[in-house]
Amino acid sequence: MRRNCLMKLLSLVILLCFTAANAYSADLPKVVILATGGTIAGSAASQTNTTGYKAGTIGVETLINAVPEIKELAEVSGEQVCNTASPNMTNEILLQLGKRVNELLSSKDVDGVVITHGTDTLEETAYFLNLVVKSDKPVVVVGAMRPATAISADGPMNLYNAVLLASSKEAKGRGAYILMNDRIGSARFVSKTNTTMTDTFKSHEQGYLGAIAGGKIYFWNQITKKHTFNSEFDISKIKELPRVDIIYSHQSDDGVFYDAAVKAGAKGIVSAGSGNGSLSDATKLAGKDAQKAGVVFVQSSRVNNGIITPKKSGRVGLYANSLNPAKSRILLMVALTKTSDPEVIQRYFDEY
Ligand code: SIN
Repeated sequence: MRRNCLMKLLSLVILLCFTAANAYSADLPKVVILATGGTIAGSAASQTNTTGYKAGTIGVETLINAVPEIKELAEVSGEQVCNTASPNMTNEILLQLGKRVNELLSSKDVDGVVITHGTDTLEETAYFLNLVVKSDKPVVVVGAMRPATAISADGPMNLYNAVLLASSKEAKGRGAYILMNDRIGSARFVSKTNTTMTDTFKSHEQGYLGAIAGGKIYFWNQITKKHTFNSEFDISKIKELPRVDIIYSHQSDDGVFYDAAVKAGAKGIVSAGSGNGSLSDATKLAGKDAQKAGVVFVQSSRVNNGIITPKKSGRVGLYANSLNPAKSRILLMVALTKTSDPEVIQRYFDEY
């Protein structure tokens, strides 16, 4: 009799705990982590090895379990999109990722998405998502400069902050984010600026949207460019992205790579010109010839900072506004899925 009572009491306690736990998690925002690889998922043989490691070796569940505190911020689930170093990211993976982010965010059961990514091409993926995600819910792209096995690995804190941002109502409607080193950056403006340092992601001219300190989000700025929910690009209609090549300018540049790009089937070429997008006389001719062959030609700059102005003597193509060559390539690919009209594409470069 006494044993029966004890058993009933125990069942009641278990039921109460279960209900309380469910009620607790039902109140938490729901965040999905899409893992793609990179240093944040990298491992080395020694804790002091921060350069000779293999990126993209740790799976999404291990990443999540390494930061159990994120489960206090959100109900977190993970999906492995790919597990690779980010120089291996392809247009196919970009499309797959963009479509999955849209699918997830269209569900009332998802409040935000975090993408873990290698830092080398992180800004390209983030800007792509900034253009094609049709939602005002937060999309946060995060990476790490030190592998998961390193002393003072930056990945766990970056991931924690990314989940904090993705679960925040205040973070809605500001476009795709790059979250690194406690700084909240817009995918439109932030770029990798240093090969190895943890404070590599910078936005020199436009600054950051905000920062995270002591587990609290501080927003300072709004993005003025078009993005996400007010973008006119519709990824559901994109089956493949056209080939767009980037050609780096240098002294003694004879323009031979422009011909190679056209022969390889490029629909667009972006020049990483010198200074304010300048080209040698030979590459100006090559850029003109490429346009005669039907290729859309956009002039950006290898300086990676500042504005490529519309009016400059010797401008032969479109101008990239303040987009660096890598992000210009992303916008030109997406733009070419809608039109090859240079005037419309120039408007995209001015507005996005
Ligand atoms: C990569 O981009 O996959 C390697 C470098 C990094 O993640 O920091």
